[in-house]
Amino acid sequence: MDAEERKGTFAQELTDAGAGDASISADSSVRELLVRTMSDQYLLPTYTRQPLVLVRGEGAQVWDVNGRVYLDFVGGIAVALVGHCHPQVVSAVQQQAAELIHTSNLFYTEPAARLAARLAQQAQRAGLKQPRLFFANSGTEAVEAALKLARRFAAVVKGEPGRYEIISALGSFHGRTMGALAATGQEKYQRDFRPLPEGFRYVPYNDAAALGRAISEKTAAVILEAVQGEGGVRPADPGYLQAARRLTRERGALLILDEVQTGLGRTGSFFAFEQAGIQPDLICLAKGLGGGLPIGALIAAAPASQGFAPGSHASTFGGNPLACRAALAVLDVLEQEQLVKAAQAKGERLYQGLAALAQRFGLAQARGVGLMQALDLGTEAAAQVVDLAREEGLLVNAVSPTTLRLLPPLVTSSEQIQEALGALERALTRWRSSL
Ligand SMILES: Cc1ncc(COP(=O)(O)O)c(C=O)c1O
Repeated sequence: MDAEERKGTFAQELTDAGAGDASISADSSVRELLVRTMSDQYLLPTYTRQPLVLVRGEGAQVWDVNGRVYLDFVGGIAVALVGHCHPQVVSAVQQQAAELIHTSNLFYTEPAARLAARLAQQAQRAGLKQPRLFFANSGTEAVEAALKLARRFAAVVKGEPGRYEIISALGSFHGRTMGALAATGQEKYQRDFRPLPEGFRYVPYNDAAALGRAISEKTAAVILEAVQGEGGVRPADPGYLQAARRLTRERGALLILDEVQTGLGRTGSFFAFEQAGIQPDLICLAKGLGGGLPIGALIAAAPASQGFAPGSHASTFGGNPLACRAALAVLDVLEQEQLVKAAQAKGERLYQGLAALAQRFGLAQARGVGLMQALDLGTEAAAQVVDLAREEGLLVNAVSPTTLRLLPPLVTSSEQIQEALGALERALTRWRSSL
């Protein structure tokens, strides 16, 4: 029996036994094979994964099971805002885990109270009036809460039950539960799951006139991303967001900004909408908030905050002490290390580097805001370049068949940005010479 066959037998024996303990082997290549085999056998096949087993992270770097280090510009899909395993986040989680992990929302806890106050302060600084929060466990859930609040605000608080429609943009992404999916204006996500909830309609993104035509006395809310993330990293024109604010206010609808991917400093301001000088009624946050722990948040300004009353919405895990304590540490780090401001300068450096690559290799374009950037190849080669970049030590993902997305942690150093651009340049050179 050769080595490959031995590994195969060992993996099969272990998966058959359902042991699930990959650490059983000290041999990293066997461990890698085990993890991949068990994942492929026991997890439902919802994800297309890159062929890497990651075991450790620090700052903007991650290590695979074989000890190889990578610059992580996938960044946990915008989650690793303050980097992997920031010591302050690790210490906060360790302390809280030893004190109290969960209580349910039938009781008060200090981390949730403090986190609500901290985020409300940020919203107030951005101009929202008397903000209040609801904690969920993900971006999808934060969006779901916003949609429910918008409908209840119209039906119950305003007494307009006919005002139930939610308008979203084509190319948007708001999540995968039925409500958030109905708001997601992309056929490829909705196709296999009909019928979806009623009362959703879609308008072209960045088209204020079309939005003006769509908003009516039936509109409960308009939901928008300030930069469409999953839709290919497409920034909204400031004028578009301003028009959305004016039109919704004039016609009695709420404006929801889905800042799940853009929020918490990624675009160079705490909330991306601040760059357009507007104040939405509702803000959805998640991704980087918990430093890797699952947490989502809905921020509601007055008067929309009247939309929920006791019993109208809930979550067992939402606002649990562990995730909230981690989030408080993330907010501390953002402030202490002045990462929000730094995201502007670092983002500009990354953008300039990507734009230079786009020009040198004759690609479509670089685009983005702050540390949310994309390189549009103009041809369906993104998956191939992702693989080549990984071989060169850089993790990125393909947000569409033509486009690479780069979401580096805000703690990424200027040297690491240069290093990433170098790896991408080598990957693009190899791709070109393979044609
Ligand atoms: C803008 C936006 N909203 C909502 C979501 C859904 O978040 P989650 O995957 O945490 O449910 C995402 C996830 O990519 C997102 O980018």
